[in-house]
Amino acid sequence: MTQFYGKTKICYGENALETLEELAVKQAFIVTDPFMVKVGFIDHIKSHLNRGHIPYRLFDGVEPDPSLESVTKATRLFMESGADCVVALGGGSALDMAKAVVFFAHKARGGQKPLMVAIPTTSGTGSEVTAISVVTDKVNEVKIPLNDDLLIPDVAILDARFTRSLPPSVTGVTGMDVLTHAIEAYTSRRANSFTDIYAEQAVRYVFRYLLRAYTNGDDMEARRQMLLASCMAGMAFNNSGLGITHSIAHSLGGLFHVPHGLANAVVLPYVIRFNSFDAGVKYRELAAMLGLPAATVEEGVTSLVTAVRELNAAMNIPGRVGALKVEEAAYKANQQTIANNVLQDICTEGNPRKPSHDDICGLLEKIW
Ligand SMILES: NC(=O)c1ccc[n+]([C@@H]2O[C@H](COP(=O)([O-])OP(=O)(O)OC[C@H]3O[C@@H](n4cnc5c(N)ncnc54)[C@H](O)[C@@H]3O)[C@@H](O)[C@H]2O)c1
Ligand SMILES: [Fe+2]
Repeated sequence: MTQFYGKTKICYGENALETLEELAVKQAFIVTDPFMVKVGFIDHIKSHLNRGHIPYRLFDGVEPDPSLESVTKATRLFMESGADCVVALGGGSALDMAKAVVFFAHKARGGQKPLMVAIPTTSGTGSEVTAISVVTDKVNEVKIPLNDDLLIPDVAILDARFTRSLPPSVTGVTGMDVLTHAIEAYTSRRANSFTDIYAEQAVRYVFRYLLRAYTNGDDMEARRQMLLASCMAGMAFNNSGLGITHSIAHSLGGLFHVPHGLANAVVLPYVIRFNSFDAGVKYRELAAMLGLPAATVEEGVTSLVTAVRELNAAMNIPGRVGALKVEEAAYKANQQTIANNVLQDICTEGNPRKPSHDDICGLLEKIW
């Protein structure tokens, strides 16, 4: 059986934040990071909740790549607050933390699920519509992707004004996360006609608008379209799964703290090449859709790899892992661990080519 599931009510465009005033809830628990408080973004959320006469508690302790410890702390505070709704404002880290809180609170409250509202401030993870929450075990330096339909937010509010303050470097790498979601969703073993539609549109938007948003952060058309692309790519991969670019990025993030989008951006061209025997036809379709030379499968694959590399280069993203802040000796010493992590990662299931341990080690050599 083939399925496509989209549960989240997606509100976007002007006045989308007014959705907060109409929530049928008794009390909200806001989950965010200190930056959102410092720049006053949180005040917009508070003011809409006030207008809707919805009392709230604030948790602003989200750190990048939320840890098991901070998820536990936030869940305890949520349970004490008695709230029946979680409103998350921030990047993938804040959204994922909030989703994990909802998951554990549901279990602790005997099956009563709090309403979950996700307001992304990066155009990257698509977490506002996905069943995934990535939590980091900081003791064992490994990322744990939770995957459960309970984690899918009920409401997503897309207001591109929150993304305007993203510095070019974060705009670039989070945008490449969107592209990786879309391309891996499109070539996944579980891709279907519905996921293809979302993935294709996300790929189009990234190539049309990411460089504009990177070059001029005040280009609000580019910001709006990138936020939609991020959400669309999320809809696609939530149904189709991803591939080994993500599996490798998870391991590089857990072991060496390479930011998620940056790891994906660097690894993606190598994985396209690695998968090209099995997924070449689909890579060629994407290249043709983008108006790139694609007379043959080989030409289409090469065009797509080149286009991804050029987009990276235009945003000052290096072409290999060796150029990142990763120590060579540690990388080499951990190669077996990374390969094992990759084989066990949930995203590897979707990869169009089934990799062996040796394949992954070979790929790790190449990406260095
Ligand atoms: N749930 C999913 O489906 C999914 C998918 C991919 C990645 N992830 C996870 O999401 C996390 C990465 O999320 P991310 O890339 O959105 O980054 P992030 O949430 O970690 O934020 C990165 C930094 O950018 C800052 N920031 C966020 N929004 C900003 C804005 N508008 N202006 C200025 N600064 C801003 C944050 O304060 C933080 O310091 C990782 O933990 C990754 O594993 C989850
Ligand atoms: Fe991602």
